[in-house]
Amino acid sequence: MSEQHLAVIVLAAGEGTRMRSSTPKVLHEISGLPMLGHALATASALGAQKVIPVIRHEKEKLEQYINSYYPNAHIVLQDDIPGTGRAVECALDALPADFSGAVVVTSGDVPLLDVQTIESMIEVHLNTGAGATLLTASFNDPSGYGRIVRDESNSFVSIVEERDATEEQRTITEVNAGVYVFDFKHLKQALGSVKSQNASGEKYLTDAAVEILKAGSQVHALEVADNWLVAGVNNRVQMQQVSSELNRRICEGWMLAGVTIIHPESTFIDITAVLAEDVTLLPGTHLKGITRIGSGSTIGPEVVITDTQVGSNVSITKSQISGSVIDDEATVGPFSYLRPGTHLGAGGKIGTFVETKNAVIGAGSKIPHLSYVGDATIGEHTNIGAGTIFANYDGVAKHHTVIGSHVRSGSHSVFVAPITIGDGAYTAAGTVVRKDVAPGALAMNVAPQRNLAEWVIAKRPNTASADAAKKATE
Ligand code: UD1
Ligand code: CA
Repeated sequence: MSEQHLAVIVLAAGEGTRMRSSTPKVLHEISGLPMLGHALATASALGAQKVIPVIRHEKEKLEQYINSYYPNAHIVLQDDIPGTGRAVECALDALPADFSGAVVVTSGDVPLLDVQTIESMIEVHLNTGAGATLLTASFNDPSGYGRIVRDESNSFVSIVEERDATEEQRTITEVNAGVYVFDFKHLKQALGSVKSQNASGEKYLTDAAVEILKAGSQVHALEVADNWLVAGVNNRVQMQQVSSELNRRICEGWMLAGVTIIHPESTFIDITAVLAEDVTLLPGTHLKGITRIGSGSTIGPEVVITDTQVGSNVSITKSQISGSVIDDEATVGPFSYLRPGTHLGAGGKIGTFVETKNAVIGAGSKIPHLSYVGDATIGEHTNIGAGTIFANYDGVAKHHTVIGSHVRSGSHSVFVAPITIGDGAYTAAGTVVRKDVAPGALAMNVAPQRNLAEWVIAKRPNTASADAAKKATE
């Protein structure tokens, strides 16, 4: 289809009161994108001349999101008149008066709708020359949705909102999915005649379909094959259901692409994450944002990784990582916390109870136990001893530490930044390193040890320690 003849309107002006949230409904995230982001991704993939999100409630927040991620979208503000019909009417004003062709309408709160479903609707719509084509679904529990009324010959008659429906109409299980293809001119005309005489006092888009029918054009109501695609989110229960179904589908997709997922029910993969073949995900793994995992890597159990590049054959256990790069063959965890700017080189190790931040750690270097490494550059094959602290903050500013290659820091060293330790240098256990250390030097500033003989026996008489000491020296 020529792109000159298609516009897509994404409705997102509603209040979303049923969410009971200070965040606008369509900005609530599922699988790493706001629901509006899912809707706009689909809308943008249709090759339309214009994508028109309609906003009103919390417009600044929505505008900010749309402008950052969809700068080409043409934002329209809905005026004071409420209702989905009014929202579309406002959007139509953004199209040139001589526009002719199809107008697709979707909702910001129907996040699983896919491109293919809309494309096949457009095809039927154009082939039949209909005035409107809408999508329906049959739900066991249709509550909350508009019901589809058909005549004896099964042709579309009208859509009745639940609030306006009779007892009998409420038993209808075929519902309006809220996804439409309209002919521009028919739609514009029909909306002109739609009134707000209903239980909510709103101008319903659904009534436009009836007006189009009245005007003598065809309206097709097509039933969707896969109900999840049109599931609408009005409250947090529905959001959880849709979100867990999307996650199930994402996990299934990665399993078919060669990823082992031991327990998909406790594995959460954002739609923006990318995994290679032969990755293994253990229970409790969350892969968020722009995260990539290389082949042969094993992640989990209990790992949260955000916006991080992980190489091949890496192992990460019970840790939290964000904004980092982990090279091939490296290992992390259990129980470590890698903050933004961490780059762990190939074959390197960050072990247990280690926190890193803005730290570039060379290939083969290890920080095995109980350390804080902040604002540092570490060379290759260096070993940072247990309990080493990089003291990067003087109370006012952060400073950098540079450690060479093949360095051995003794347990419980403190590097007081800014400081530079040369290649092959050592620090003694318990050293507070305040001066640069030349390559190959041993740094130590620990006072010599004194043992006061029999101090315990004299100063702590009749204690278990004193008794034990006596026994040992008898
Ligand atoms: C709507 C349909 C209903 C359908 C259901 C499918 C109408 C009248 N009803 O009901 O038949 O079964 O979707 O999910 O259309 N919006 C605006 N401006 C407004 C009001 C709403 O832009 O003035 C937007 C909302 O932000 C939302 C979408 O339109 O993204 C749907 O609105 P909502 O209030 O959720 O309608 P439903 O009650 O779900
Ligand atoms: Ca809705």
